[in-house]
Formats: sequence, C-alpha cells, structure tokens
Amino acid sequence: MKRLAVIGIGRMGGRHARNILKGVVKHAMLVAVCDTDKSVLDAFCVKYKVKGYTDRIEMLDNEKPDGVIIATPHYSHIEIAKDCANRDMDFLIEKPVSVTVKEAESLREILVKKPDLIGAMMLNQRTNRMYAKAKQLIDEGKIGPVKRVNFIVTDWYRSQYYYNMGGWRASWSGEGGGTLINQCVHQLDIWQWLLGMPSQIYAVCKTVGRDITTENDVTAIMSYEGFEGVFTASTHELPGTNRLEIAGENGKIVIDKHKMIYYLNKYPEPTVNARAKRDYGNREDKKRKKYTYSYGLFRLIYDGINGQQARVLNNFVEVIATRDKSRLIADVNDGINGLTIINAINMSAWKGAQVKVPVDTQEYVKALNKKIAEEKSAIKKENTNA
Ligand SMILES: NC(=O)c1ccc[n+]([C@@H]2O[C@H](COP(=O)([O-])OP(=O)(O)OC[C@H]3O[C@@H](n4cnc5c(N)ncnc54)[C@H](O)[C@@H]3O)[C@@H](O)[C@H]2O)c1
Repeated sequence: MKRLAVIGIGRMGGRHARNILKGVVKHAMLVAVCDTDKSVLDAFCVKYKVKGYTDRIEMLDNEKPDGVIIATPHYSHIEIAKDCANRDMDFLIEKPVSVTVKEAESLREILVKKPDLIGAMMLNQRTNRMYAKAKQLIDEGKIGPVKRVNFIVTDWYRSQYYYNMGGWRASWSGEGGGTLINQCVHQLDIWQWLLGMPSQIYAVCKTVGRDITTENDVTAIMSYEGFEGVFTASTHELPGTNRLEIAGENGKIVIDKHKMIYYLNKYPEPTVNARAKRDYGNREDKKRKKYTYSYGLFRLIYDGINGQQARVLNNFVEVIATRDKSRLIADVNDGINGLTIINAINMSAWKGAQVKVPVDTQEYVKALNKKIAEEKSAIKKENTNA
C-alpha cells in the first residue's frame, strides 16, 4: 500500500483525493491533504475525515508520504516539486509542469542528480488509446514520412461566466497564459509525443469575444524537416471540433473526437505519382485499405465516473511501487517538451515573427514579466476610471 498526499484540493486535487479515498487508485491510501485556503481544507477534511495541513512542509515532514500529487495553480508547481524532490519523495505534477521552461529546467537539474526519484506528469490524454495507436503507426513507419499535420482543438468552450468566476485563470499574473497553457497543454503534449519537436514556429494568438487579458484563439504553424503542421485552437466557438489529421506518404491517420480512421494506400504516393498517366485524380482511391478504431465505450464510462486522470494516478502508484520508470505514462521531461512549444508559440505571437525552437528561456521570462506588468497597469487604470 503506497501512502499518498495531495497538495491543492480544489477542483482537480479534490477529485484526485476522492479517487484515492474511493479505492479507484489501487494499492494506495490517502494519508493527508494540504491546501493554503483553510476554508477549503476544513470543508474537505471534515467531510472525508482526512488529516489536513495548510503548511506543505509540515505535512511532508510529519507524514512522510511515499508519493505527492501536486494540484495547485501552475506558478507554484516547481517550488512544491522541489520541496518533494529535496526530501527524496516521488511526486506527480498536474499539467502544465510550470509556466516557464526556465523554471522547469531548474527542477530537471535536481532530477538529473537523483536518477531514482520519480517525477511524473499528469498528461492524461496519453491514456487515450487512439493517440497511442497513432504513435505506434507513426513509430513503425506505417504511414511513411509525414507530409502534413492539422490539429483542430476548438471543443474546450469557455464562456465569460467561467472567466468572471475570477481566481487565477486566464491572466498572465495568475496563470501565465490562457487557452494555450490551460487547455492546449494536453494536445501539444500529444503533438510532440507523436511528432517530436518542431524546429520553428510562427503563431498568431488573439482574444476573441471575451473580456480577458490572455489568448483564447491560437493558430500556430510548426515547421519540421520535410513538413509543416498547423495547430488551431480556440475556446469561443460553437460547435467545437477536435480533429487530428496526420498525412504520410503511405496513408493517413484521422482522429475525430472518439473515432479514429487509419487509411493505408496500396502504393506510397511518390510511386503513384511516378506511374501516373492521367491529368487529374488517381486510381488509388478504390485500392486503399481503411481501419477504424474507437475510444471504447467502457473507457468512456470509466472516464465519466472517475476521470481520465485516474488512469495516470494508478500508473504513478504502480511505478513508485515497482521503481520501473520505463512504465511511466509521462515524466517531467515530457512536461518540459510541451511547455517549450507553448513558450515558443507565445513568443512568436508577441514578436509577430517566426521563432526558432526552443526560444531563449531568459528572454521568455523577460517578455512574460512585461505582459504581467502591462496587465497590472491596465487593471489599475480600469479601477481608477471606475
Ligand atoms: N489534468 C487535467 O485535465 C486538469 C484539469 C483541471 C485542472 N488541472 C490542473 O490542476 C491544477 C489546479 O487546477 P484546479 O482547477 O484544481 O484549481 P483550483 O483553483 O480549483 O484549486 C487549486 C487549489 O490549490 C490551492 N492552493 C493554491 N496555492 C497553494 C499552495 N501553494 N499550497 C497548497 N494549496 C494551494 C487553492 O487554495 C485551491 O484550493 C492546475 O495546474 C490545473 O492546470 C488539470
């Protein structure tokens, strides 16, 4: 039985804690929770009869948990992870790993010196078996060299009501960004998991139809050797779309929400082209094979009840028990890769120019601080005018 603690028991951390208490997370027990908001903490601890702390250091030192789940707002992730790492306690960080790559790198440096320590990431979209299948097909060369990628993610709708709830969300000072760092962090992790890191990015980010200071609309062109990919995301469209298309020389993968189609050409496209003796079209369309996969009804039901994140929690416990890090769904390095893309998209949008990936981490911190300062002075002006 692994003894777990959760830091930050808001929406997500509360769910993690309840999943551990309910036994959804196998071979694990909840020893304590921590939240700096005493009213949130007391309500949770009274309801679920769990030991609570407002001070995480006190909790870590008193309870000595085997694993710590960090589910606080993004800016605090690295500092809390370092407190765990410095005590040789395995930890799992909610996405995103951090707001800036610079800060995340300082955690990576500690982990490099502690190779046995487990630093896991909650990148739960990796448990979607259609993405895993797509990865397998790409890695095995089944679709051939990639020619084009399009990922449209417009199905995380957020109304003004959501933003008006206040708190730390959708601000540069509270969250370090908008839809990119909050929602797209999942799909950009899938992107880099399947395709690797782009060498350059050109992006346009906008705020559409909402009174917020951060972006809720993103278009990014990601350049790779041999192909370009376009990532489009927004949180203001109805109806939304969630569609990933990866076209290769041998075929194509299309994942549309809960359904995946894998098309396999009889001949690779360059062969078709070399043999073609027609002006328009081709004769390949009838010879192509088509395979379909689905998310799975039972998996959807499981997600509906427990959340996709419960699979990652189970994986974390399994890995801290077996010490087999190769089985980890995602680690801090994966989190840093996704964040590297996010930082580069923001930097490109701010500069209005294509940027090389990775962007200079110090320059990014400076540019982010400028955004925070602008945001603060705009709020000050608004308050003065009111
Ligand atoms: N994996 C997912 O799909 C998913 C979904 C939602 C949220 N999240 C992530 O979970 C994290 C929390 O999001 P949320 O929606 O639960 O936020 P939330 O605001 O509902 O909860 C955060 C909680 O952390 C507490 N807190 C803040 N700073 C703290 C500190 N230093 N120490 C202890 N407690 C602290 C707050 O009081 C609050 O109760 C974010 O990083 C978010 O990106 C992940």
